[in-house]
Amino acid sequence: MKEIGKIWMNGNLVPFKDAKVHVLTHALHYSTSIFEGIRCYNTPNGPAIFRLPEHVDRFFNSAKMYGMKIRYTKKQISDAIIKTVKTSKLKECYIRPLAYYGYGTMGLTPTLNKVDVSISCWEWKMGESKAGKVSGAKCKISKWIRIDSRSQPMQAKSAANYSNAALARVEALKNGYDEAIMLNYKGNIAEGSAENIFIVKNGMIKTPPLTADILDGITRNSVIRLIKSKKRKLVEKNITVNELLKADEVFMTGTAAEVKSVTKINKITIGNGKPGKITKELQKSFMDVVMGKNSKFLSWLRYI
Ligand SMILES: Cc1ncc(COP(=O)(O)O)c(C=O)c1O
Repeated sequence: MKEIGKIWMNGNLVPFKDAKVHVLTHALHYSTSIFEGIRCYNTPNGPAIFRLPEHVDRFFNSAKMYGMKIRYTKKQISDAIIKTVKTSKLKECYIRPLAYYGYGTMGLTPTLNKVDVSISCWEWKMGESKAGKVSGAKCKISKWIRIDSRSQPMQAKSAANYSNAALARVEALKNGYDEAIMLNYKGNIAEGSAENIFIVKNGMIKTPPLTADILDGITRNSVIRLIKSKKRKLVEKNITVNELLKADEVFMTGTAAEVKSVTKINKITIGNGKPGKITKELQKSFMDVVMGKNSKFLSWLRYI
């Protein structure tokens, strides 16, 4: 990790290496935190943050689902994100707003502690998430089942969801795969460890509905909007393992992954084993949008 710029902590910009918390911070023990993952792209017209208001909205919604009270307004958080990125002088970066129950009282009840907020950013060059961009990723259907929404709110981007995702990711990597695909308790496809999933069959694009215990991904939403603008056929419907394995194309979407092709699942080759036509078309369209090359979607960029 290159320690560049400053980190915003409860209203103050502190040097990167000094942005520390106490070992008895509540969230470290009980996963009582929610966060966001946002990208800033170096477009031909200068650095731009992708879908900032949507990320800030999801940040506040995640907090709400956990009853966490953030003592800043959405505007203050958006301004703080822009200020942190500007201070860092980074043109391409990943931005991580985090709200967590801090240091004060130990024991399970989080609400006895105050909610601290931090905003960090670090260099993230385009092409850094290469697996799946060119050759297609190899995925493993995980033995770990995605957490059911009756157990905890899976629409919240909360740290508590990620021990499950990390188990799946590590299992996939240990077995020689690039990424995991997780099923939900109904046995349908849910999502990757940090991506949403889409399949293509006979020209029809299909993605699991939000009720499949998945995150309401902002890249998922952007790709759905792109698909609709191209007048391609799309349905949000449950996907079975059989449908996934028999698909002509499979791709994943996420802030880090962008649009990445999946060409192997378990030992099975998807389609002809190469990134498919629709996947490649959407990869290109998505990159055009984040680079400000599609005038229809310019409002998704916040130039800084
Ligand atoms: C579990 C999970 N699903 C989906 C996504 C994709 O969401 P987004 O496109 O908002 O990054 C992420 C990444 O944040 C994730 O962690």
